[in-house]
Amino acid sequence: MPTDLYCVMGNPVAHSQSPWIHARFAELTGQRLSYTRRHIELDDFACALRAFAAEGGCGCNVTVPFKFQAASLATHTSARGLLAQACNTLRFHDGRIEADNTDGLGLIDDIEHNAGLALQGKRILLIGAGGAAAGVLGPLIEAGPAHITLANRTVVKAQALVARHLSLAALHKVELLAHTLQGLEGQFDLIINATSSSLGGHGAPVDAGVLQPGALAYDMMYGASAKPFLDWARAHGAVARDGLGMLVGQAAEAFFIWRGVMPPTAQVLHELRRQIG
Ligand code: ATR
Repeated sequence: MPTDLYCVMGNPVAHSQSPWIHARFAELTGQRLSYTRRHIELDDFACALRAFAAEGGCGCNVTVPFKFQAASLATHTSARGLLAQACNTLRFHDGRIEADNTDGLGLIDDIEHNAGLALQGKRILLIGAGGAAAGVLGPLIEAGPAHITLANRTVVKAQALVARHLSLAALHKVELLAHTLQGLEGQFDLIINATSSSLGGHGAPVDAGVLQPGALAYDMMYGASAKPFLDWARAHGAVARDGLGMLVGQAAEAFFIWRGVMPPTAQVLHELRRQIG
């Protein structure tokens, strides 16, 4: 029987833990597949996607900077993907390119099940309005918090993202506001950093007054990239958490889309954390 082929496409992609995670999922669930990394030139994503499908690829994950393009190249897109306008999971099926975004499900699974914070009724500050924030805003609304402020350096981007999500927020009775990074009012139970500001070695791009005592401060990155934000959070009395659990959670949801089997995320997260230190 031929091995089913999957990959992650990105630029850069050399650091990606996804091949290890999916190999481990396959091992633990008895699935036969191969999952590799593909570094794609910035102007070559559409061709690379077609080439992989022609080689017999069954699907792929998509990471920066191609998530927006993945959404626009798909022939069929999930409701989540349409709202985010950015997709991280593609499935090639009967000549179709089916797209979804599993980042938000991975984030919520990690926050609620691994970190133990139930989102119902909570106040959330989501910082950033790029692809990373767009991918998680819809699922965060669906988790039923009382309030979400979306804060971004370029406020018009936050306003556009909020405008796209207002009817979903109304449906779930969630107060949803766009804001600049300065002058944020009130405190939040959960602060999520979905910006790339940590990459420049900066801590949080907001004032520490936003942290409710004991708040969970979550960076969607992990390793050295998350350190400045997590150090800032700890220095101000928050519980700090990196995005490694989100990474495993979004991979598990992609694995489920492709294989119809949900792998054991807690075990794989534990192993990955031990492995990368
Ligand atoms: P991604 O797909 O990872 O979200 P992106 O679409 O380039 O990447 O978005 C990066 C996000 O980080 C944006 O919200 C960006 O703010 P702007 O929209 O104002 O550009 C934010 N960001 C990057 N560097 C930042 C910094 N030094 N301070 C605050 N926000 C920053």
